[in-house]
Amino acid sequence: TDRYCVFGNPIAHSKSPAIHAAFAEQTGEGIDYTAIAAPLDDFPGAWRRFTAEGGRGANVTVPFKEAACRLCDTLSRRAQRAGAVNTLILGGNGQTHGDTTDGVGLVRDLARHGVNLAGARILVLGAGGAVRGVLEPLLTAGPLGVRIANRTAAKAAALAQDFADLGDIEGGGFDDVGKGYDLVINGTSASLAGDLPPLPDDLFAPGATAYDMMYGAEPTVFLRWAAERGALAVDGLGMLVEQAAESFYQWRGRRPDTTPVLEALRRAL
Ligand code: ATR
Repeated sequence: TDRYCVFGNPIAHSKSPAIHAAFAEQTGEGIDYTAIAAPLDDFPGAWRRFTAEGGRGANVTVPFKEAACRLCDTLSRRAQRAGAVNTLILGGNGQTHGDTTDGVGLVRDLARHGVNLAGARILVLGAGGAVRGVLEPLLTAGPLGVRIANRTAAKAAALAQDFADLGDIEGGGFDDVGKGYDLVINGTSASLAGDLPPLPDDLFAPGATAYDMMYGAEPTVFLRWAAERGALAVDGLGMLVEQAAESFYQWRGRRPDTTPVLEALRRAL
């Protein structure tokens, strides 16, 4: 059996082993997928050891996505853009190829919820690595425009500049966030602390969707706030499953059916 894993630190509570075990069972691909806590100061060493022991590929999560990007011999175009890698693939030549499937995972989950990105006014909250990783597929889906709002306004402006060649995108702070958005994506880590960025009550257009990249047994403060203002509230569990499915496809050339896997995860939250 071919070996795969997810690297993170901490990693004990990762759902990726269960997700990939379900994909393997469903597709009949005999893979072995484990969770490995890599040392904070030596990600390349962890990957080297894993491949020396027969590892063929890996997912990468916090805080190693940028370090994974740096060690790759080759990168997909979308990983280059994101400056981050969540999927490592060991080539037959012994070279390491890096890809990122987070952005496509988000876009597929939005599609599952019937969110139409073409012509949409999109607001993204946050300007860290999680947001950088999803901007390309959002911009190339043909929205009317993308606005990034961040606590540190300068970071949002700089990030917008990095992606300005892909479409209409601007960045700023929370004070001039605008209103009437069709889709608002929370990519800040504020939810983790139970915090809510300061947002106006007229943020959402009628029929808008609020998406939080985080998930949990209970809705995040952002999703509760959004639902009270009439938005359809969606958490990031589907994004997690969709990015995993795209990684699985990159490794095995097979596309698992994500729906039953997502439903089982949801029930177990
Ligand atoms: P990640 O890889 O998860 O994106 P990150 O790169 O550290 O992590 O980025 C975290 C994001 O959450 C940033 O946009 C951060 O805002 P700043 O750039 O101003 O630091 C945002 N963030 C974290 N805690 C927040 C809070 N309590 N309120 C608002 N934004 C917060």
